[in-house]
Amino acid sequence: MPKRLPKGIDPKRIPRHVACVMDGNGRWATKRGLPRTEGHAAGEEALFDTVDGALELGLQWLTVYAFSTENWKRPLDEVRYLMNFNERILTDRRDELHGRDVRITFAGRRDWRVPKRLLKRMDEAVDLTRNNKTMTLTIAFNYGGRAEIVDAVRQIAAEGVKPDKIDEKTIRDRMYVKGMPDPDLMVRTSGEFRISNFLLWELAYSELVFTEVFWPDFRRENLFDAVREYQRRERLFGGAR
Ligand code: IPE
Ligand code: IPE
Ligand code: MG
Repeated sequence: MPKRLPKGIDPKRIPRHVACVMDGNGRWATKRGLPRTEGHAAGEEALFDTVDGALELGLQWLTVYAFSTENWKRPLDEVRYLMNFNERILTDRRDELHGRDVRITFAGRRDWRVPKRLLKRMDEAVDLTRNNKTMTLTIAFNYGGRAEIVDAVRQIAAEGVKPDKIDEKTIRDRMYVKGMPDPDLMVRTSGEFRISNFLLWELAYSELVFTEVFWPDFRRENLFDAVREYQRRERLFGGAR
């Protein structure tokens, strides 16, 4: 099916995998005199427009940072809101994602802090969309890049792998989402220039694009801008120009 791409985007250099740090919800709300949680609520439209934009571009993988292993430090009310919010999104929107042939996966720790009900919704979304092929949407939830590496190392130790048999592939194969290619591009919103424990292993050679836009204002056009910026970059992977 011939796709019409947004203007100025080279069909031969579409990133395979884009990762987003959806940041700035709290400031978006505060700026409007609203409680921070309203910013999270407003982020839903941003996320689903971004998913549509990603499908329009033909991305195969889209990963979004929804809740970090550090976000538990937030006030209990906000944490509780985010748990219910994510549960609600999964129930309300999974059929729509399924209808778009999107496979849903999760990256993160399934520890005791994540409510059972939410874990159940997560499993249902994964099961429902398991065989979808167009794009994989990975939701990084209770996710930490260091935790992911620790979990991989624990698994390697538990398997009794001999030290001289451990290479990069040994670790890669034990990351949370099997078969996930490294992101080509990482986008972070809200004018913060940091990684905040997102995909530490996987971002080793990703192109990083930062935008001032707060996440609730992010739309597919902002994703297209990030991809245009990505296509202007020269990727060397340590090689010579
Ligand atoms: C990102 O927005 C959403 C989550 C971390 C869950 P923030 O809530 O971090 O918004 P700011 O950075 O405080 O504005
Ligand atoms: C990163 O944003 C986590 C998510 C977007 C889910 P944070 O707002 O938690 O990161 P810091 O605290 O500014 O580094
Ligand atoms: Mg933030």
